[in-house]
Amino acid sequence: MSYSKKYNPFKPNHPINPGMFSGRANEIIRINDTLLQLKNGNPTNLLIIGERGIGKSSLLILTNYLAIGKIDWEEDLTFNFLSLQFNLDPKITIIDLIKKINNGLQRELAKEEKEIEFFKNAWSFIKKLEIAGCKINNETSNFSESEIFDNFVYSLADTINTFSSNSILTQKGFKTKKDGLIILLDEVDNVSEQLNLGTFIKNLSEALIVQGCYNIMFVLSGLPKVRDILQSSHESSVRIFEEITLYPLKSDDVKDIYLKGIKEVNKNISPEIIKIEKNGLEIMIDVSEGYPHFAQQIGSSVFNLNEDLIISDQTVKESIFGTNGAIDLIGRRFYSHLYYNKIKEDSYREILQIMAENPNEWIRKKEIQSKYTKKSTTLTNGLKALRDRNIIISQVGKKGVYKLQWIGFGIWIKYLSEKVKNYNL
Ligand SMILES: Nc1ncnc2c1ncn2[C@@H]1O[C@H](COP(=O)(O)OP(=O)(O)O)[C@@H](O)[C@H]1O
Ligand SMILES: [Mg+2]
Repeated sequence: MSYSKKYNPFKPNHPINPGMFSGRANEIIRINDTLLQLKNGNPTNLLIIGERGIGKSSLLILTNYLAIGKIDWEEDLTFNFLSLQFNLDPKITIIDLIKKINNGLQRELAKEEKEIEFFKNAWSFIKKLEIAGCKINNETSNFSESEIFDNFVYSLADTINTFSSNSILTQKGFKTKKDGLIILLDEVDNVSEQLNLGTFIKNLSEALIVQGCYNIMFVLSGLPKVRDILQSSHESSVRIFEEITLYPLKSDDVKDIYLKGIKEVNKNISPEIIKIEKNGLEIMIDVSEGYPHFAQQIGSSVFNLNEDLIISDQTVKESIFGTNGAIDLIGRRFYSHLYYNKIKEDSYREILQIMAENPNEWIRKKEIQSKYTKKSTTLTNGLKALRDRNIIISQVGKKGVYKLQWIGFGIWIKYLSEKVKNYNL
């Protein structure tokens, strides 16, 4: 039996849309509470941290949906915030960010109602910025850094206070008031330290409070080094954020990802139904080890290969471990470069293979040595090289205890080794 219509519900290359989102209930509850607090004039900024592929951008999109009331978590609590989301790149300047916020607000408000006169007046300084074409640190400009900042604070405070304290008066009548403003910044690990983002957000938050503006919050997300970036900008700027660290999903949540995907396909091929053999599903759950990007890629690979109404164990194994299967594709997207180009020696890769047997655990040099096939000087050199490249980290205050920097990388190495050993498909 086979089915003909090909539809693949898994999205290994994009953040997940909230309809297919699984797990993270505790994080969502915290975000929902923070939004409720914010609505009541008690702002907290959030910092979502985790390694690549763990689901930061997806959670940010979900936050956006919650904030604008596209979805709700509690039945009788639907928010109505304005929400702006930006990805940050290394070249971005504070001026760019101010302009982005201005553009974003204009766009969002225009969706509500075309002519909002107050907005144009409130943001008239942006015109001057454009004419001056200045950079924020450019001293020759006749528009100083602090002047720009002050103007920005006043404009932002006026705008937020206008759309959140009373209904907006427009040409067509009154629009309902907003709960406040959320600014979501993704890939914050990309920004340069010179941007001084930590100082900017800290000063901005404080200045807005002085202006009586209590309903704005920032949600930042990025790799763990975001903390250092913020801290290097201002020692205490990390403290204005509450951290949400993302860990792997529970295996039930991963199962949910797969079952949702299958259900989605079944909706599209009705009256036919696809089923999966129990063992195959278990393998898919095991190999993803709670990492959503593994789950999405594995799901996607299985559905690319499968042509039957019953997904067999063999199809699952081939989709994961075969040539151009999930392990190969995950490697190509995230880890191959690190593994094959940044590490030149096989003898160093062997160290990683040993460490990857338990990707999330500290391991003593002695234990590595007992499994290592090369000389002990090679091990010493290898450990140093890997540490210098930030691929492994050593435990603070203990000599000779190491761990992989990125767990996802470790999991990939583990299954790459398994593939080579067991699945010459
Ligand atoms: N909660 C989730 N449920 C289902 N899939 C998810 C979830 N979180 C992330 N994903 C999927 O995992 C992959 C990586 O997610 P993404 O949000 O881009 O991670 P990050 O921003 O941390 O690199 C994407 O393919 C996304 O669709
Ligand atoms: Mg991301």
